[in-house]
Amino acid sequence: MAGVQLEQLVKIYTEGQAPTVDHVDLVVKDGEFFILLGPSGCGKSTLLRMIAGLESITAGKLSIGERLVNDVPPRDRDIAMVFQSYALYPHLSVRDNLGFGLKMRGTPKDEIARRVAEVAPALGLEELLDRLPKALSGGQRQRVALGRAIVREPAVFLLDEPLSNLDAKLRGTMRIELKRLHQRLAATMIYVTHDQVEAMTLGDRIAVLSGGHVQQVGPPLEVYNNPANRFVAGFLGSPPMNFLPGVLVGEPVTKVTLTTGVQIDLPEQLHDCAKAGSEVELGVRPELLLLDPEGPLVGTVAVVEALGAETVVTVDAAGGQTLVARLTEGVPPQSGDAIQLRPHATQIHLFERKSGERLGPSLKTPLAAEPAEPAPEPASSGEEA
Ligand SMILES: Nc1ncnc2c1ncn2[C@@H]1O[C@H](COP(=O)(O)OP(=O)(O)OP(=O)(O)O)[C@@H](O)[C@H]1O
Ligand SMILES: [Mg+2]
Repeated sequence: MAGVQLEQLVKIYTEGQAPTVDHVDLVVKDGEFFILLGPSGCGKSTLLRMIAGLESITAGKLSIGERLVNDVPPRDRDIAMVFQSYALYPHLSVRDNLGFGLKMRGTPKDEIARRVAEVAPALGLEELLDRLPKALSGGQRQRVALGRAIVREPAVFLLDEPLSNLDAKLRGTMRIELKRLHQRLAATMIYVTHDQVEAMTLGDRIAVLSGGHVQQVGPPLEVYNNPANRFVAGFLGSPPMNFLPGVLVGEPVTKVTLTTGVQIDLPEQLHDCAKAGSEVELGVRPELLLLDPEGPLVGTVAVVEALGAETVVTVDAAGGQTLVARLTEGVPPQSGDAIQLRPHATQIHLFERKSGERLGPSLKTPLAAEPAEPAPEPASSGEEA
């Protein structure tokens, strides 16, 4: 087993053009399920292919385990990769597809048979070993593609959107299977996806990429609750965070005046986080935009999406602003209803409008209940009694 270390890694495809991977520093720990998350074209596959050795490194250092591997050919890197568009050999049975990579490496026949027999049950492929790929469902084929990587027993798995060809339900099932597999193998896995649900559910840690840059690295909930900047805040979460442009006001600063004229009180941790007059965006997740008959955000319900456990409400608010709230309690409103909302008292994010950088400290108790009535005095201590 091995970790993977990227130091100031750069990829420039065409000289004179902007880097596709731009000075990326990452340390993937041994045994970690590490996610590279970002929008299409941000350089995820490029980065993974560089780790695999399928793409040259323009600058920087890449180590697997303790070994610098910049110039080590792919087959000597002790990695196995599952590609975005995997292809099985159509004329080979599932058994032979699984064993093909080992056979190419000259692994003895009985050893191949042993490893295939070990991997097949874990992936639910036992009954299918003698079938050809054309007689398999999409999900079964996907499992064969994964199985081919697993039988190799690599130190590091590189997985490029391995579930992207599956329907939503199967993706959900395969996510759980992958998680189990990772727990069982305890191998290092680097997993590329643009799907934030996959990232949140699978990852020990996530690196969010944009434009070839790492925006933030951390455990899923840490990144979700304390996004480092507006990009990360907007990318993670569905429906996405609401962003309300405004200006900081007060001496000391205690409020935001939104461009719509509405004033919002800032929680204490954001008081004086920047100068009065600073242009900011206030960020509130849909689940933290609460129904309140006195709420400062006034609007009309435009669309109601009743999803059963929750209702997602799109609101046309004053000043041409669109708000999205996710309601889990009470009677869901109807389209056309007047509605009033307020942001949760403490779970508010502020971003500098120009740079998108987060203002103020991390939220210490994400998603905690709002401060309730002051707690009753504790029962008097012995001394006073
Ligand atoms: N061989 C190549 N030559 C030149 N440019 C390339 C090459 N491969 C990829 N690119 C460019 O590099 C950028 C990053 O591509 P990459 O495939 O790494 O993105 P990605 O994050 O994996 O996207 P997706 O989610 O769509 O798979 C894109 O703009 C792409 O057009
Ligand atoms: Mg890709």
